[in-house]
Amino acid sequence: MSNEPTGKAVVRPARVADAKAIMTLVNELAVQQVMLPRSPASVIENIRDFFLAEVDGQFAGCGALAVTWTDIAEVRSLAVQPAMQKHGIGRILVDALVADARRLGIPRLFAFTYVPGFFAKMGFSVCQHEALPHKVFNDCRHCPKFLACDEIAMTRVLDPKASPASLFGKPQRAMPLPQRTPGFVAPAGLKPTRQA
Ligand SMILES: CC(C)(COP(=O)(O)OP(=O)(O)OC[C@H]1O[C@@H](n2cnc3c(N)ncnc32)[C@H](O)[C@@H]1OP(=O)(O)O)[C@@H](O)C(=O)NCCC(=O)NCCS
Repeated sequence: MSNEPTGKAVVRPARVADAKAIMTLVNELAVQQVMLPRSPASVIENIRDFFLAEVDGQFAGCGALAVTWTDIAEVRSLAVQPAMQKHGIGRILVDALVADARRLGIPRLFAFTYVPGFFAKMGFSVCQHEALPHKVFNDCRHCPKFLACDEIAMTRVLDPKASPASLFGKPQRAMPLPQRTPGFVAPAGLKPTRQA
């Protein structure tokens, strides 16, 4: 029986009940070495990153927007059911992720991918891995391909006027510790461990 989509695809934010379908699809495709696997915890803990495409109420695909820093976010775990591919579902998922990035005020997206042709159609351009900020490689430490990455790095600028420096500035070396409120008196029985 063919699972080719017949109805119109709709995209919505994912719910925890969708985690299993997301994980199953992503990990089935990961076995084919076309994308990286996701653990149950990484999908559930980051469920708010995910959008889902449905056709006639049936799960058709998913994609996630993972915020890396104030000026950049990653499009990750983008996957469409094999029988439903090449029907515009990947595109509407990317459109939803782009809209969410704009809502959040994120001026640039990146992706690591084996399908540069698809991302090029979505307005991304190939870049050197080294051209991306170090922070984007945080998750790479957990990747089975760490230090032997063969994925292609691609970026898409959403707001060419945004200046990364003006968005957040340099990371601080030390966080200021919270101070005790002047005049604070500890309730009876609660002994302060350290004098301010
Ligand atoms: C990559 C993927 C998400 C694309 O989804 P899709 O629903 O098949 O893509 P769409 O039908 O929306 O395609 C949009 C456009 O990209 C093109 N396209 C799709 N897949 C492509 C590919 N592998 N290479 C080049 N172009 C591609 C389509 O022809 C279409 O072009 P058009 O607008 O000129 O007609 C899907 O094929 C998939 O799940 N692949 C396996 C997992 C994967 O590789 N994910 C990416 C992880 S980074």
